[in-house]
Amino acid sequence: LICLSLSLSLSLSGTKALSVPLVTNTSILRLNLRDNWMEGMGGAAIAEMLKENCYITEVDLSDNNLGDYGARAVAGMLRANGTLLSLNLSGNRFTDQSVEHLGPALVANSKLRHLDLSHNSLGERKHLGDSVSENTGLRSLSLAWNGIRGRGAVMLANGLGVTFPVIYATWMNNADLKNKIK
Ligand SMILES: *[C@@H]1O[C@H](CO)[C@@H](O)[C@H](O)[C@H]1NC(C)=O
Ligand SMILES: *[C@@H]1O[C@H](CO)[C@@H](O)[C@H](O)[C@H]1NC(C)=O
Ligand SMILES: *[C@@H]1O[C@H](CO)[C@@H](O)[C@H](O)[C@H]1NC(C)=O
Repeated sequence: LICLSLSLSLSLSGTKALSVPLVTNTSILRLNLRDNWMEGMGGAAIAEMLKENCYITEVDLSDNNLGDYGARAVAGMLRANGTLLSLNLSGNRFTDQSVEHLGPALVANSKLRHLDLSHNSLGERKHLGDSVSENTGLRSLSLAWNGIRGRGAVMLANGLGVTFPVIYATWMNNADLKNKIK
């Protein structure tokens, strides 16, 4: 198993330059791109690469300020239902708008096993509940440190309830979500 770890600062042009050769690289299976301030465009370049690459199974895109633009690109990649098994999207400033893209993508994708969405701003207006209940692949999902409360919390709790105990969910620090999930 070869793991490419690039934790040094990687500019947007660097991200693009990197993602092109990776499309055909068959020896890199895990990609650590944590904390590279890629932003939406960089995330989109990586997402496009992952659509074409059939070997990479694990990607860490945490702390990259991908934003909702990046979420949309990542969602497009997930819809392709490729080889990716583990995806870390922690700390990317995703809001409810991201949920609009990620939700349907999670319904279409049955390959992904582990998804970390912690430390974002997924709130209460849109929720992942229905998508998560229709998803058949996920084994673990972290929603810790988001702003999920109110109706979003109830819907999410119901969605998680359908797939329980398959999904190991982490939802700490979400206002009242803790009280909704039994
Ligand atoms: C794949 O990427 C690794 C790490 O950058 C590099 O050493 C290797 O030569 C590349 N392989 C191919 C076939 O491009
Ligand atoms: C995802 O990335 C964050 C921040 O880099 C890290 O704290 C967390 O442990 C990672 N999640 C998983 C499931 O490895
Ligand atoms: C995704 O891929 C898996 C395995 O190749 C397949 O069983 C499943 O039907 C696909 N899901 C969709 C929605 O195409």
